[in-house]
Amino acid sequence: MSNVVVLITGANRGIGLELAKQYLISGFKVIATFRDKSGAAELISLTSQFSKTLQIESLDIASHEQIEALANKLSHEDIKIDLIVNNAGYLDRENISVKAINYAHAEMSLKVNSLGPLYLTHCFLSLMNKEGLSKIAIVSSDMGSLSLQQSVAWYGYRMSKAAVNMLAVNLSSELADDNIAVVAIHPGWVKTDMGGTDANYDVKESAAGIMKVITNLTINNSGDFYDFNGNALPF
Ligand SMILES: NC(=O)c1ccc[n+]([C@@H]2O[C@H](COP(=O)([O-])OP(=O)(O)OC[C@H]3O[C@@H](n4cnc5c(N)ncnc54)[C@H](OP(=O)(O)O)[C@@H]3O)[C@@H](O)[C@H]2O)c1
Repeated sequence: MSNVVVLITGANRGIGLELAKQYLISGFKVIATFRDKSGAAELISLTSQFSKTLQIESLDIASHEQIEALANKLSHEDIKIDLIVNNAGYLDRENISVKAINYAHAEMSLKVNSLGPLYLTHCFLSLMNKEGLSKIAIVSSDMGSLSLQQSVAWYGYRMSKAAVNMLAVNLSSELADDNIAVVAIHPGWVKTDMGGTDANYDVKESAAGIMKVITNLTINNSGDFYDFNGNALPF
């Protein structure tokens, strides 16, 4: 069993759940967050198999109060975190034309996909393990790449992923002296509720690739953007 502690947001389904499973199987200690118990049956069921290494916590990443409360709770438990995986994501599917924008859904994209990881980092910095390199991974999307932008769709989502890519770059500069490396990762087009059944990859392939990218993250390549196969992507 490893002593490495990984915190994963949105770990009750999709890529986040698979990351939690693969990190647990690899012997890591996992703090897996979910929003609502009714949608977290599979994650909850893992607590009996991994009773010593899986801790589940509720967190709505759009709520700054909940982020603060979880940071306080883990601080009181004296937990040190080696890796944060900002995985939770929201897609405002209907915002495909500026002529018909649902403001609340665009706002939710920014709250969940960009401001959540920003504020989580702010509140959890003091919990990061200071002994050796610690890491922050941001599950972003190639849809947040300004250079790769090819079609008009999902205004809030694309804007929020571009913003969170900027967060990765900013954090990598500011946190290098704290020995914290940061990476933005495109997980591929993955068969999840968000990606749909036509997607190219299953969650197992995507999660395994994401973990490899995180393993290969050092201070030297901090601030880079990769796909789950380890190919560098342009911002
Ligand atoms: N699938 C793809 O093809 C694809 C492509 C590029 C990037 N991504 C990115 O990969 C990440 C994971 O996506 P996925 O495909 O696994 O999506 P998913 O199956 O739809 O899962 C989304 C996860 O995010 C959580 N979440 C949503 N809003 C939240 C909030 N306010 N607070 C906390 N958790 C929240 C969901 O929790 P609930 O169950 O409570 O809703 C769920 O656990 C996302 O950041 C996504 O943008 C996915």
